Amino acid sequence: MPDRPAPARKSTSRTSAKATQPPRLSVIGTGYLGATHAAAMAALGFQVVGFDTDPTKVAALSLGKVPFYEPGLDELLVEQVESGRLRFTSDVADAVASSDVHFVCVGTPQQATSHAADLSHVEAAVRAVAENLVGDALIVGKSTVPVGTASWLRGLLADAAPAGVRAELVWNPEFLREGKAVQDTLHPDRVVVGGASARAEELLRTVYAQPVAEGAPFISCDLPTAELVKVSANAFLATKISFINAIAGVCEAAGADVTVLADALGHDSRIGRQFLDAGLGFGGGCLPKDIRALMHRAGELGAHHASRLLQQVDEINMGQRERVIAMATEACGGSVLNRRIGVLGAAFKPDTDDVRDSPALNVAAALHLRGAQVTVFDPQASDTARRTFPTLGYAASAEDAVQGTDVVLLLTEWPELVALDAGRLAALTATARVIDARGKLDAQAWRAAGWEFTGLGRIAA
Ligand code: UGA
Repeated sequence: MPDRPAPARKSTSRTSAKATQPPRLSVIGTGYLGATHAAAMAALGFQVVGFDTDPTKVAALSLGKVPFYEPGLDELLVEQVESGRLRFTSDVADAVASSDVHFVCVGTPQQATSHAADLSHVEAAVRAVAENLVGDALIVGKSTVPVGTASWLRGLLADAAPAGVRAELVWNPEFLREGKAVQDTLHPDRVVVGGASARAEELLRTVYAQPVAEGAPFISCDLPTAELVKVSANAFLATKISFINAIAGVCEAAGADVTVLADALGHDSRIGRQFLDAGLGFGGGCLPKDIRALMHRAGELGAHHASRLLQQVDEINMGQRERVIAMATEACGGSVLNRRIGVLGAAFKPDTDDVRDSPALNVAAALHLRGAQVTVFDPQASDTARRTFPTLGYAASAEDAVQGTDVVLLLTEWPELVALDAGRLAALTATARVIDARGKLDAQAWRAAGWEFTGLGRIAA
């Protein structure tokens, strides 16, 4: 593939991509997934236009500004916008007419009244692309969807596309992690493509030529398998976390240490050490809603074992939040009313300012609602947390957050929080009492610095 694709052709009347011409790409929806995908595809040398219905987002991205915190994305975006390969628009007809391949990257949140995924954005996106097609095109779904969605969207596409236009829809799930989104998009572990014809596969092999040349396997399969690979991956990761959290409960009861146990388990290459950090459990915009959507879909399909398994995974996970609230209450002598609690971390994990379904913010808010005076510090997520829970106290530093506290909770394991000087911090508290809800603090060092230390699945002093 050439470094820079040929300039956009003048005519947009028929837009079929020839093998010799790199396809021009549109990205529909410029949230986490879409903004990163658009910038990464431009970095791979393609002409890319990002479309979003939100003009404020489009204006910010056009200036090279990322409306959320994602390491490395700002730089990549500025570079690609300046290169002329990447632009953004809120005019869907413009985005569709100037591209051959359309990546659908809109969100699929949990429905307000059920565990099922809300597919309204995906439906609107595919309909908008279909109605504005001016030539042959490939529509590539990247959003996380329940199995069966893509086949339903194919029907919608067939109905909405103009007569005479050849439009194909395939599914190409995305596995990027927040905090590592750029790296994961440019260097994916695998490329999965579902339901592709020979022509569609050739186009996508061109798009992903660089990662595939680097060794990423290209897995071509049917539509339902591609849809399920994505949700199964998230379900497996969630299961692994809930497994270790269940074992942490056994460790506590038996006087064992889950952090040492996890390290020992991780040496077995069949198990692996990743996603075995016991603690407050998983949150964020993906794992919780994806396991619930799969639970719901599996139930609809009559696959009740999967449904029941995921129900347990969810229950264990939510139980961890209750467990930490109970530990904090116990540390305060049975009631948190009017007690001062310092909370370190609000983001759902380090390296992001995302507080969607954040276990940390959830625990902080629950303690506040029980009458505690809660002060939160997060290196990046204070603003997003404040917008979600404006009634909590927010400190500008960890030191300010622990000032005069009865108990301190480590709820998100930012490296700078894990590296805090235990001795200096102890002197600032009313009572030096800490609950490590992420299993990352050095219990011995904190105890030596005068702290009463408790951790999930850790040996009591
Ligand atoms: C997750 C998946 O890891 C990605 O592969 C997937 O593409 C993405 O969802 C998605 O569906 O878009 P992400 O939500 O960014 O990525 O977060 P993870 O790194 O998976 O962490 C999820 C949660 O699990 C966090 O709250 C984290 O604190 C928690 N976690 C993780 C643990 O409690 N213990 C662990 O050992 C690991």
